[in-house]
Amino acid sequence: MPRIAYVNGRYVAHRDAAVHIEDRGYQFADGVYEVCEVARGNLMDMTRHLDRLSRSLGELKMAWPMHRSALEIVLREVVRRNGVQNGLVYLQVTRGVAARDFLFPKDTASCMVVTAKSVDPRLAATRAETGIKVITLPETRWERVDIKSVGLLPNVLAKQAAKESGAQEAWFVDTDGNVKEGGSSNAWIVTADGKLVTRPAEHGILRGITRTTLFEVAAKLGLTIEERFFSVAEAKAAREAFISSATTIAMPVIEIDGAPVANGHPGSVVLSLREAFFDIAEKTKA
Ligand code: PDD
Repeated sequence: MPRIAYVNGRYVAHRDAAVHIEDRGYQFADGVYEVCEVARGNLMDMTRHLDRLSRSLGELKMAWPMHRSALEIVLREVVRRNGVQNGLVYLQVTRGVAARDFLFPKDTASCMVVTAKSVDPRLAATRAETGIKVITLPETRWERVDIKSVGLLPNVLAKQAAKESGAQEAWFVDTDGNVKEGGSSNAWIVTADGKLVTRPAEHGILRGITRTTLFEVAAKLGLTIEERFFSVAEAKAAREAFISSATTIAMPVIEIDGAPVANGHPGSVVLSLREAFFDIAEKTKA
């Protein structure tokens, strides 16, 4: 099946899909995005993703590219046209195309691109059985990481550094030695007495949609969540550690900076969250 992308009002062949060289996303990273998981033919947590998109757009004083209900149709249509049962859908909105000038252009329509791709669910399942490794790095990003902006250079460099040291994710650490979040995921630990701990979303992290839904999953499983800071040292000594994102859901972390977490194997709490996630998350049929 040939891949199809949505670009500014048209469904086009993915290989030919292009935006103008003066798109402000390209020149200034002046845009926002969302990544939504597709599982068993459903867009997962679409309402929350579009609520967050709305917030990101608002913070950057950007207009919605189209009515929200029309945008929902485009997302579903792109998933359908690409025959995606399991994978992800990517949505990007930029401030549009205008002659390069730092100031907001006047009367310029925003630009929107949507793509979807299939990902074999067995890959994540296998990865969850082994777990992932993370490294820690000092925070290098701007303060507005609550906005899901396409300006991701520090994240790119951090994740590349992780890969080069044999890890799959990098955790940004604040100046007090507390873990913030990953390059493309939120960070969690499980304490010795079985409580889930994750950093408060108001303190220099992205409020992950998977993170929010995991609060509901945890409640259903009778687990307690503490939103508080935790240090790298506490994470290394924790019973379990894991990450969450639309592309990984809840994924065990078995090693931090080369040191094993607990016995170096995925923990049972994260695996139970992972297992229960699909049933509890909102599902929208493509
Ligand atoms: N990243 N923190 C950061 C910095 C992220 O980039 C992401 C998501 C998350 C988790 O958010 P959510 O649960 O809504 O996916 C946290 C996406 C998957 C990406 O950039 O590919």
